[in-house]
Amino acid sequence: MTKKKILIILLLVLIVAIIVIGFIFSKDKDYENVEQEESVTEQNDSEKNIQESKDEVEEPEEEQEQREEQLEEQESENVVEEDNGYIVGQELPSEPTIINGVLIANKKYPLPKDFAPGESVEARAAFELMAQDAKKQGFELVAFSTYRSYEYQQSLYNRYVEQDGKDNADRYSARPGYSEHQTGLAFDIGEKGQEHLWLTEEFGESEAGKWLMENAHNYGFILRYPKGKEHITGYMYESWHYRYLGVELATKVKESGLTLEEYLGID
Ligand code: DAL
Ligand code: ZN
Repeated sequence: MTKKKILIILLLVLIVAIIVIGFIFSKDKDYENVEQEESVTEQNDSEKNIQESKDEVEEPEEEQEQREEQLEEQESENVVEEDNGYIVGQELPSEPTIINGVLIANKKYPLPKDFAPGESVEARAAFELMAQDAKKQGFELVAFSTYRSYEYQQSLYNRYVEQDGKDNADRYSARPGYSEHQTGLAFDIGEKGQEHLWLTEEFGESEAGKWLMENAHNYGFILRYPKGKEHITGYMYESWHYRYLGVELATKVKESGLTLEEYLGID
């Protein structure tokens, strides 16, 4: 073998070796790429999973928010009063409501359960003065029901509900916590000797009832539930139920021809 031939064979071996090494090297690169791609894919997949699981958590949250909004809407629609004027689900407050200096108790503004001032001394004195003057006119006024505690109003209301049904009772008897009698400023007035007219509309047509209607404000009282104002006061006409406001305010309310709610601009 010539030197030339040996050189050619060596060259060929070298070329083959380079090709083989090159091939092996390129394979390794491919593996690396595949591994990289796989890890990227895995990463993407795991991110996707996190995202998906996030979506799973977020979606119900959104739904929950929507549901809550719907509920709130329904509730705000439901903060409607019942037909009889009360607010559904209303709880008694911890403090009484005073509007423009006037202690208010009606179907929208209840009193705390433990609000128990007793009969107002000032209102009683005003009543006695009024009764003295009424006597001069020939009739003896009697305040047959004044201050009523929460508990007493409760038993009274329950009795009326049993007798008459809730819908009817709600038209003339306040639920416990809602009665103006609990303020100590409400006086149910009748005439002595005319007991059969107590708690009747007819009392308003009697001489004593008419005199009261015309004059009570001069002593600080107003007829609290006038005829035809049930949609405002929440109660049917009560010819006997007077509320003490003091002479000045009672006179203004009387002269305005408005109910106390209208005068104060409240429900
Ligand atoms: N009769 C009135 C409304 C009351 O029960 O307070
Ligand atoms: Zn009354």
